[in-house]
Amino acid sequence: MTPFAELHLHLEGTLEPEMVFDLAERNAIGLPWRDLDDLRGRYSYSCLQDFLDLYYANMAVLRTEADFAELTDAYLARAAAAGVVRAEVFCDLQAHTARGVPAPVVLAGVADALSRSEADHGVSSGLILTFLRHLPVADAELAYEAALATGVELLGVGLCSTEVGFAAAPFGDLFARARADGLHTVAHAGEEGDASYVWEVLDSLGVERVDHGINAMGDRRLVEHLAEQEIPLTVCPLSNVRLQAVPTLADHPLPAMLEAGLLACVNSDDPAYFGGYLDANVAAVEQEFGLSTDQVETLAANSIRASFLPGTEKARLLHG
Ligand code: ADE
Ligand code: ZN
Repeated sequence: MTPFAELHLHLEGTLEPEMVFDLAERNAIGLPWRDLDDLRGRYSYSCLQDFLDLYYANMAVLRTEADFAELTDAYLARAAAAGVVRAEVFCDLQAHTARGVPAPVVLAGVADALSRSEADHGVSSGLILTFLRHLPVADAELAYEAALATGVELLGVGLCSTEVGFAAAPFGDLFARARADGLHTVAHAGEEGDASYVWEVLDSLGVERVDHGINAMGDRRLVEHLAEQEIPLTVCPLSNVRLQAVPTLADHPLPAMLEAGLLACVNSDDPAYFGGYLDANVAAVEQEFGLSTDQVETLAANSIRASFLPGTEKARLLHG
């Protein structure tokens, strides 16, 4: 069985409720939640924005380099237990610098844990700096420059946060610059937005991978394009259900995506908020759709193919 790569994972989305309280105490930060049960009671969402409001609020407890290192290390340990051997993780740097946490603090903590990941957990890793599309492009440019100035190695840049109503095209020059700097490019699209949002990140940002992309299925020409060009889609089933991007898991387009020959793989997005890590996402679709061993193998192989690992490493993981 081919092992899994996780390619759509926000480190901040691995902040478990217990850790929110532990870090709040350690950093002497007042929380708006009475207790753990009060916080846990807020993990149901009517839409993406509803979730994002809680996600950004909880980040207030992340303050020190050690906090970011612990968060990242805890995720890597959990991912390894889920069968992940490669993790290309997102960091929403602007959400921290906006709170007064300097970029070197955030990125040094994350990079410290990532540098030990292979030795400690058997997981190779890469860091993708995700720009927040609800903020001005100038803010993303500053974040990019601050990240480069830290000297921390980046694998790529991405785009996330509120989708509908916030155009991706204005980020085109910044993505072109990152590409010229040798970085990979990805973007969230087609999660709440329709297929036109997926076309936009392909045409304006030239991304190599689309995060989510479930609403691409409404556009036959787009599906053909994604299949022909072998553009990967990092799909997050439990996230899509919890954010009501699909009515129920039974309505999820993952089987149709595989049927259409798309390079779709399964990921956990924000596992602390959506009810499970990569293994829980795979188990959920396996059970819901009665996937065969071959189909699960396809999902694993797709994740390795869709990764930014060198070709030789992909071949080793795919063929043993
Ligand atoms: N940031 C964290 N999770 C996200 C998601 N599912 N969509 C957009 N932005 C996000
Ligand atoms: Zn995401």
